[in-house]
Amino acid sequence: MKNFYITTPIYYVNAKPHLGHAYTTIVADSLSRFHKTLGDNTMFLTGTDEHGDKIVKAAEKQGVSPKEFVDGISGLFQQLWPHLGIENDAFVRTTDEDHKARVQRFLQQVYDAGDIYFGEFGGHYCYGCERFYTEKELENGLCPQHLTKPEFISEKNYFFRMSKYLPWLREYIESHPDFIRPERYRNEVLSMLESGALEDLCISRPKSRLTWGIELPFDKDYVCYVWFDALLNYISALGWPDGEKYKTFWPGEHLVAKDILKPHAVFWPTMLKAAGLPMYQHLNVHGYWLVRDTKMSKSLGNVVEPLEMRQKYGLDAFRYFLLREMHFGSDASFSEEGMVTRINADLANDLGNLFSRVLSMTAKYFESKVPQPGEFSEDDKAIVELCATAMTNYIQLFGNTQFAQGLDSLWDLVRALNKYVDSQAPWTLFKQGDTTRLGTVMYVLLSAMRKVALCLWAVMPDASRTLLEQLGQQPGEGPVTTSLEAEAGNFDGLQPGTEVAASSNLFPRIDVKALQQEAP
Ligand code: ME8
Ligand code: MG
Repeated sequence: MKNFYITTPIYYVNAKPHLGHAYTTIVADSLSRFHKTLGDNTMFLTGTDEHGDKIVKAAEKQGVSPKEFVDGISGLFQQLWPHLGIENDAFVRTTDEDHKARVQRFLQQVYDAGDIYFGEFGGHYCYGCERFYTEKELENGLCPQHLTKPEFISEKNYFFRMSKYLPWLREYIESHPDFIRPERYRNEVLSMLESGALEDLCISRPKSRLTWGIELPFDKDYVCYVWFDALLNYISALGWPDGEKYKTFWPGEHLVAKDILKPHAVFWPTMLKAAGLPMYQHLNVHGYWLVRDTKMSKSLGNVVEPLEMRQKYGLDAFRYFLLREMHFGSDASFSEEGMVTRINADLANDLGNLFSRVLSMTAKYFESKVPQPGEFSEDDKAIVELCATAMTNYIQLFGNTQFAQGLDSLWDLVRALNKYVDSQAPWTLFKQGDTTRLGTVMYVLLSAMRKVALCLWAVMPDASRTLLEQLGQQPGEGPVTTSLEAEAGNFDGLQPGTEVAASSNLFPRIDVKALQQEAP
């Protein structure tokens, strides 16, 4: 049995979750479910990042203590996930005592090895990013992310000897093409490394300026820099250094958006290297959800509420849209019109219609029992072959974070099945009394539909279950299969005689006009 460990960023608790956070977490959930359908032993971690100036400022604004503040917002994240069908195995908070102790242990280890030193430092500090910028990195004197003027701060601090590991990192990335993917982000990191702009990393903040952090084990006048603390969640939550989960699941893979490429692609691997730990397997980097060409973000106030989308369009349709619409790695635009178009085309017209017509014909022609197939014609064999290809491609693409392409490959099959209904015209076969041929056609359809439903569990868990139940299957509690690869290699699994539902109306068409009238 293979082990699969996937993580999301741990989100800042300075504002409540929006569609951007929901996207990454739904992707992680879908990947975790996908690996379950391959029979893998999976571990899926998400959580909240709770230290740093940013949080203190947000708490002050509300007139509550940092602790009260982080408890409240972390709670919002934890409560939201189940409503989005997310089944994470653990939830880490950087204010957990356990996490703090492990971060201190890591710091001490790197300090003892001589890779942390004390020095003087001046730099342009952006509170939004929680980091220093060099003169070179600023754009017209402003932070390139927040477009605000950073504050110049000069003080004594602790530094991680990151520069020592940069030549090694460059070589590692060059010899491991899959380490950072898709390729454009790998190239971005390589040019960052080639530019020579990277230096040692300041990993402390004096308590005179900030107390809301993890105390350095070797100097009680300082707390740990929030990124150094946060990145360690990926192993602290597994119980590094001696926890069973750590032994089983590390190294795993990470999911992030491009805003936090640098800490994950530069800080984190050099930290792991300095501590002598195995490298993570992949850093999977996605683009931004945009609203009218601008990044959706809490600071810009143009956020979409995931729960509102769920309520309006249904959870499965929402999850499907997110995975199908964004080509992983590139930016994508979010609009409700776009979502309605996608739902109507793919779910109502293609998938929903297929189930609805095939099940009602099975009711009419075979009293809702899966018929015994006769010999397969060339047309039938073409469907069997397409079913295998579509599933194999789906498995390969999905595992490679190409979700949109994977789903599109599956939809090649869905659309082909609708065409097959038209070309085989079961209603004519029925009129002609050709029961053997009619039975074969219906069997081919129902059997292929079962395969489609199995694949969809990763993305649309509830719909997948319902569709399987409509096909007379008993998917039960856990993953709907633990051998999707074997399922792709055969056309079996549906027993003739199985009783199926008489109708299906899982994805009704959304009336665009009615939606517009609802809007204020
Ligand atoms: O950066 N499009 O937390 P954060 C796509 N605490 N994804 C988006 C998005 C958008 N418009 N907006 C947010 C932090 N995201 C740190 C992480 S990890 C050790 C520490 C998602 O709350 C995306 O996953 O700012 C992005 O990387 C993350 O939220 C940033 O979350
Ligand atoms: Mg952010």
